[in-house]
Amino acid sequence: MDIFKKCYDFTDANIAREQGYYPYFIPFSGGDDTVMVYNGSAKIMIGSNNYLGLTHHPEVLKAAQSALMEYGTGRTGSRFLNGTLDIHEQFEKELAEFTGKQAALIFSTGFMTNLGTIATILGKDDVVIIDKLDHASILDGCHLSGARILRYRHNDPDDLKKILDDLPKDVGKLVIVDGVFSMEGDIAKLPEICEIVKSAGARLMVDDAHSMGVLGPEGNGTAAHFGLTDQVDLIMGTFSKSFGAIGGFIAGDADVIDYIKHHSRSMIFSASLPPSVVASTRAALKIIKSEPKRRQRLWEIGTYMRAGYQKLGFDTATSETPIIPVIIGDNMKTFAFWKMLFEEGVYANAVISPAVPGNSARLRTSYIATHTQKQLDFVLEKFQKIGKQLAVI
Ligand SMILES: Cc1ncc(COP(=O)(O)O)c(C=O)c1O
Repeated sequence: MDIFKKCYDFTDANIAREQGYYPYFIPFSGGDDTVMVYNGSAKIMIGSNNYLGLTHHPEVLKAAQSALMEYGTGRTGSRFLNGTLDIHEQFEKELAEFTGKQAALIFSTGFMTNLGTIATILGKDDVVIIDKLDHASILDGCHLSGARILRYRHNDPDDLKKILDDLPKDVGKLVIVDGVFSMEGDIAKLPEICEIVKSAGARLMVDDAHSMGVLGPEGNGTAAHFGLTDQVDLIMGTFSKSFGAIGGFIAGDADVIDYIKHHSRSMIFSASLPPSVVASTRAALKIIKSEPKRRQRLWEIGTYMRAGYQKLGFDTATSETPIIPVIIGDNMKTFAFWKMLFEEGVYANAVISPAVPGNSARLRTSYIATHTQKQLDFVLEKFQKIGKQLAVI
């Protein structure tokens, strides 16, 4: 048996390419936050996670440039050995303060943060209970840990309670939820979840990849949004979304973070976040805190677009944030919609089954505080035109 057989037999992507509706790995050649260029033609970007538009903020760019000149391109080693810089530690203090926790630890990606945290905290005798729609990096971290994995119905605290009630009291339990769900755009029901987790004697971790900069009084995440910072044991964030770059962090009690720091394989056996990225994300954090208007504008845009889609007759599922899925139905129709939209000058993300349940294939749309009113109305006009052509509305 040749282990490459599956690769040679895999034809789905080539068929889609030949038929001209392949929506993935589009090589953009430039652009800024709200507009990207493909083959010389501008596409309005409604498929990024650049919620505050900080990828091109002058202060953020300047910080990256000066760190590049001061520290070089990278540390060529792990945080554990030669890779720690003064700015890593300064930034960790700022992140701990921002999330209201005792300590924070930076990883080189959000994915590695989840792998490294979950697989370090859990062992084979423990049980981890996760929302069915939690991010892939959470699920992979759980598999890596060897713990028993149980999944509850999406954002259904009653189902979570049932599962916890059936577990023995003396077993170690960790509940992990996304703060904002990346494909649905809904918010975890933290008040109910916290109560259930506490009465079960479990611990709680919240993945705030899509909440940092977006939710909370200072953009400081889901727990802060609900006033429940003390009830959430571990807060995870990424720098690949509102912070406009790449990287991740975990925040919690100092002893817990120190344990993760000395045991987490995805941190210890991988090189540290490059100085230019540390500097740009630090500058982004300053702007998140000092320019609340960006967050307010993002929410105004989210509300405007959701109402706009709904008025046109589209189904936006359970969205309640600036992430708005527009449900198209089957996979082929979603590809067709995506392609027509792209040709009209708009880029959204095509998300098909099995990534989402059958017949709920969708265009995942998400917004940027810097989108102009003209761009938003252009997008709605194109959705209306194509929605009618394809009989989605
Ligand atoms: C909820 C969630 N967690 C973790 C990650 C991984 O983050 P990163 O892209 O920074 O590796 C993502 C990214 O898509 C995400 O959406």
